[in-house]
Amino acid sequence: MTGALLVSLVSCLIAVSQASIINRCDLARVLHKEDLDGFEGYSLNDWLCLAFVESNFNISKVNENADGSFDYGIFQINSHYWCNDYRSHSKNICHEDCQDLLSPSLLSSIICAKKIVSGAGGMKNWVAWRLHCAGRPLSYWMTGCFLG
Ligand SMILES: *[C@@H]1O[C@H](CO)[C@@H](O)[C@H](O)[C@H]1NC(C)=O
Repeated sequence: MTGALLVSLVSCLIAVSQASIINRCDLARVLHKEDLDGFEGYSLNDWLCLAFVESNFNISKVNENADGSFDYGIFQINSHYWCNDYRSHSKNICHEDCQDLLSPSLLSSIICAKKIVSGAGGMKNWVAWRLHCAGRPLSYWMTGCFLG
């Protein structure tokens, strides 16, 4: 009895922790649906690489920076500039509550990321994209993914 309960509890915890990770091709389909394919000259490969290097496809990732700001969600959007987390002063350029950037629908993250990419520097606003994705062959990110 206790053993069975423990097993179901553990598998439930595993299910919960895995729920925050979006499958690469599922992400590609969401991004495609939200018209990010070719957005501002960036391909789905760029977006997938960005999401991978920033969050490992973890929708609920939150990370604290050395300056006391936090990065939120699949694209690790920063609270000092882009969203408001009520912990410190924010420019809140995206007019978003940072918690909304953790939503499984990804819509708030996508809307804010579009705003960031549309501005000066494009995806170079993400240091990890510049270091690990820019100018590299990226076509393998879409391997095996069907958008339909
Ligand atoms: C996803 O991010 C959250 C918040 O940072 C973390 O607690 C969780 O362990 C991460 N999930 C995985 C599978 O790494």
